[in-house]
Amino acid sequence: MTVPRALPAPHASSLDLGGRTALVTGAAGGIGRACALRLAAAGAKVRAVDRDATGLESLAEAARDLGGTVEPHVLDLTDLDAAELAAAGTDVLVNNAGIQLVRPIEEFPPDVFHTVLTVMLEAPFRLIRGALPHMYGQGWGRIVNVSSVHGLRASAYKSAYVAAKHGLEGLSKTTALEGAPHGVTSNCVNPGYVRTPLVEKQIADQARAHSLPEERVLSEVLLQDSAVKRLIEPEEVAEAVAYLCGPRASFVTGTSLVLDGGWTAH
Ligand SMILES: NC(=O)c1ccc[n+]([C@@H]2O[C@H](COP(=O)([O-])OP(=O)(O)OC[C@H]3O[C@@H](n4cnc5c(N)ncnc54)[C@H](O)[C@@H]3O)[C@@H](O)[C@H]2O)c1
Repeated sequence: MTVPRALPAPHASSLDLGGRTALVTGAAGGIGRACALRLAAAGAKVRAVDRDATGLESLAEAARDLGGTVEPHVLDLTDLDAAELAAAGTDVLVNNAGIQLVRPIEEFPPDVFHTVLTVMLEAPFRLIRGALPHMYGQGWGRIVNVSSVHGLRASAYKSAYVAAKHGLEGLSKTTALEGAPHGVTSNCVNPGYVRTPLVEKQIADQARAHSLPEERVLSEVLLQDSAVKRLIEPEEVAEAVAYLCGPRASFVTGTSLVLDGGWTAH
């Protein structure tokens, strides 16, 4: 018996999302913006979700310059019901929005811990919940969760962030198991430190927590475990997200694509 090919024709591997809708959260930030532009360049109509209206406008303008379509959707993801509603009807979902606070556990404000878990774990659950009925109905969907090396490894002083990212890894794997019979894949991408405002903002915090001058934080804290001694660019992360949405990745599900310059090779 000849088993039929489940793949597109050989060499038909470039990403074409024409006719597809993609929702990207945190789209006004460094990685989210790069993902939104990459998916728009592939032809997707991108619903760009963020609480930062100005950042979304600038993104929409950049997309227009590229000939792509990005529709800004101003939303605070702590409004979980609105988040779930916003995801209805999307073919590709990129859960990317994130926040960070660097503090020892005994000084970590409980309300911030709660907000981090809400934005970075509960909102992705609600967005996935909102997106799946349409994906299941058409037998195709792609969910990419922007996790982190901190979804796989811990660092001191990042209790909420590490807890949320480890939780996101579990949510992503469960989604993969439930989604597989319906043509829906779910994966994480796990960057090391990316050159974005989120990292730039935490350098002062890290300097205080580690009692170091700010100029030594990059080499002695952030890049200490990275074999490649540079920050990764947002566009490199967006390319990994694009791969997971592409025609050659339909067998890739329930896993984590690590882009960490060798950090977890230790
Ligand atoms: N920068 C890094 O080094 C790095 C490394 C690994 C993983 N990540 C992950 O990548 C993702 C994006 O991070 P980034 O570096 O681009 O950060 P960023 O700060 O540039 O962007 C994050 C975006 O999320 C938005 N956001 C935050 N809270 C929100 C809320 N309640 N509602 C709506 N929008 C909200 C912000 O407005 C911002 O535009 C995060 O999940 C982060 O954990 C970042």
